[in-house]
Amino acid sequence: MSTAVAGKGLEGIVAANSGICYIDGDAGVLAYRGIDIHELAENSTFEETTYLLWNGILPNEFALREFQQQLALARQLDQRIVDLLKSFPTSATPMEVLRTAVSALSFYDADEKDNSHDANVRKAYNLTAQIAMIVAIYDRIRKGKEIIPPDRSLSHAGNFLWMLNGEKPSETATRTLDMALVLHADHELNASTFAARVIAATLSDIHSAITGAIGALKGPLHGGANEGVMRLLLAIDKAGSDPVDYVKNMLLAKQKIMGFGHRVYKTEDPRATHLRRMSEKLGKDSGTPKWYDMSRAIELYINQDKKLNANVDFYSASTYQTLGIDIDLYTPIFALSRIAGWAAHVIEQLDDNRLIRPRADYIGPEYPSPWIPLEER
Ligand code: ACO
Repeated sequence: MSTAVAGKGLEGIVAANSGICYIDGDAGVLAYRGIDIHELAENSTFEETTYLLWNGILPNEFALREFQQQLALARQLDQRIVDLLKSFPTSATPMEVLRTAVSALSFYDADEKDNSHDANVRKAYNLTAQIAMIVAIYDRIRKGKEIIPPDRSLSHAGNFLWMLNGEKPSETATRTLDMALVLHADHELNASTFAARVIAATLSDIHSAITGAIGALKGPLHGGANEGVMRLLLAIDKAGSDPVDYVKNMLLAKQKIMGFGHRVYKTEDPRATHLRRMSEKLGKDSGTPKWYDMSRAIELYINQDKKLNANVDFYSASTYQTLGIDIDLYTPIFALSRIAGWAAHVIEQLDDNRLIRPRADYIGPEYPSPWIPLEER
């Protein structure tokens, strides 16, 4: 085959038409359905943003109320899924558990065998509600705590914190998490969304697509980076080192610093702007500015020395840490927001589908090579 090879890792390749998410990586612009992420972060909620991603327009008051109610009503988990969660080894990470449990959810979905647009919208509601429940319930199970039933009067963010901690979350915690969920809800053809679209395009089911997406998100080069950031901050703290000296040594050893760099943004990731602000404010208000201060020192150094910018994962680590959330829940929290974008992309793909099947440029042994009988090898 003599066609030109795409950049390694498909860099710069446009692989789909999409009306969901606009990114200008040079200008640091991100918009959902044309609305700038800064406006959404300041003014919207996860529910409103999800409606926007799924429907292409902002809801009016009535539509928003109905949407919130439907999402809240979808907070139901079949007992057999809860039993499945109880059967996992407590050493299983929440991301592994989420991947496996989401796959199993399809067995108990009334629309399991229906891959129509309307059925997939219904399944998107269910998955959005259920992913948050699975993360919270598994965390309680592994800690030997009682399972907290969902509170349908709370928002998606508020209910997650309620089911996780068993106490009504503060307004600050709910608003902080809600804003983080808005910021993480979609990001065009990132690795996990692309994986979801590839799976959906075979006309497989939405649960398979989301299971694949969760597997992709888990990797440290993608959503798993937020956990890596916190592990780095903790290691620096434990060693009592100067954060800048610590990362300097890592860079000298050719190690990557999690939470920096991005395939598309060549300037500040607009989501990091808000997460930095949240991390700083939470740190000050809670009297634990340490994680923000360390993060900021590292960021300034890496900006200057490596010309790399913080991405969405960098300040989400110190933000979640200050909210008292366990490290291995950071990536699942990413998933409980990104399900909004994954579902929007799967549905968009199926509305105008064609199998996604690129080619590889063959660089193996010369063709034709002879088959050699076993005794002559
Ligand atoms: N730390 C140190 N050096 C880095 C980093 C980093 N975080 N990111 C990029 N670089 C360097 C690379 O070593 C490479 O240098 P070289 O040309 O001298 O070899 C150069 O910058 C280009 O980096 P690539 O890895 O080729 O860039 P790519 O576009 O393939 O990768 C990625 C982007 C995966 C995000 C990368 O920057 C990275 O590994 N970052 C750390 C992991 C991370 O934070 N991932 C989350 C991304 S956001 C998200 O998915 C939600």
